[in-house]
Amino acid sequence: MAELIGLKEDLAQVIRLALSEQTEDVRLFAARLVRKYRNSEPDLAQQVDLFLRAKPHRRAGAPLRKAAAPSLPEQVLPVDDESRLSLLKVFRDSPDLEAPLLSAELGESIGQLIHERKQTARLAALGLTPTRSAIFVGQPGVGKTLTARWLAAQLGAPLYVLDLTAVMSSLLGRSGSNLRAALDFAKRSPCVLLLDEIDAIAKRRSDDSDVGELKRLVTVILQEVDEWPATGLLLAATNHPKLIDPALWRRFDLVAEFKVPEPASVKEAIKRFLGPDFALFGRWIEILTYAFHGQSFSDIKREIQRFRRAVALGTTPDADLIEEFIKARALSLDRQGRIDMAVLLAKQTRLSQHSISDITGVSRDTIRKYTTDGSTVGQKKRRREA
Ligand SMILES: Nc1ncnc2c1ncn2[C@@H]1O[C@H](COP(=O)(O)OP(=O)(O)OP(=O)(O)O)[C@@H](O)[C@H]1O
Ligand SMILES: [Mg+2]
Repeated sequence: MAELIGLKEDLAQVIRLALSEQTEDVRLFAARLVRKYRNSEPDLAQQVDLFLRAKPHRRAGAPLRKAAAPSLPEQVLPVDDESRLSLLKVFRDSPDLEAPLLSAELGESIGQLIHERKQTARLAALGLTPTRSAIFVGQPGVGKTLTARWLAAQLGAPLYVLDLTAVMSSLLGRSGSNLRAALDFAKRSPCVLLLDEIDAIAKRRSDDSDVGELKRLVTVILQEVDEWPATGLLLAATNHPKLIDPALWRRFDLVAEFKVPEPASVKEAIKRFLGPDFALFGRWIEILTYAFHGQSFSDIKREIQRFRRAVALGTTPDADLIEEFIKARALSLDRQGRIDMAVLLAKQTRLSQHSISDITGVSRDTIRKYTTDGSTVGQKKRRREA
């Protein structure tokens, strides 16, 4: 019964594609049907396969669409057979997209990657291929997805994101075909493909809980990374590098490590996220930079957006917002951290020692002691930055 429903849906899809004259997509969809029905409906699969062979593939370089319909989507995005939900998320950002804030080292490797991708012909003349694959490693909210978007925009290519957690949550039996469909789709035209949360699938193959299907999926990915065409860029992202199979790990041309921002980037991020409200909050910049130490960019953004909303609606004055925020942050600091924060507040704001003591939990005596000896904070701060 389920087979019959599948067939009906597939038939409807073929008709839809045929009526919109998407010949190439009909071909690609038919090729998928051959694979899908090879075992359950061998006669049908064979017949469709014959049709496909009788109609040769579109010439390389021929336009995907008739000139009269340039606004149509270039290809039909692959969907999960059962839920009909799209497997890939698409981003087409303009090259003006603001660049992510990256550490000097990371900025350099990403810059080099873009440079190579823009000089593929020159590299090819020398028998070289540009970087074809990279894996982005880092905790949540440090810019892995953002950098993938920016990279694609710089290369003038769409970014397709395949969320592997979502693929894995579909029935295991379908994960393989979904993964294949998404990879096949991405290989057909120049693009950047991001395999997000690759750890969801690329668990160590020695993991006891692994079933055969999982192992096959890892094998699929290993092959794909090896054979990825130089026309596209294959990216992967993970928050859990330890879960990644070492065999997969070494197949990526580039490993890019995204760290939590250093103080200079924290300051830059605060300014960026404040936008026009920097005029109002600028006086708190040093203390905010200190308080956000160790937080990810997205945590910083969320908090700053909260400040901006409260000020815009007039619910809380900026000084109260900052005070509350610092008080909460102080709880997570060690004693020296709180002392440093108290000294900064004493130097950078007009808060009384009484309020500072209240916010940071540092006694007024200690604040007095440290503020008369001005060098201490700088030393500690430099130690933290090092
Ligand atoms: N390096 C950065 N520069 C500027 N903004 C950033 C940066 N990193 C993160 N942000 C902000 O945080 C948001 C979330 O970042 P992003 O989605 O890139 O994180 P991620 O590393 O992919 O996290 P996850 O592991 O949860 O997918 C971005 O949309 C952006 O607003
Ligand atoms: Mg992400």
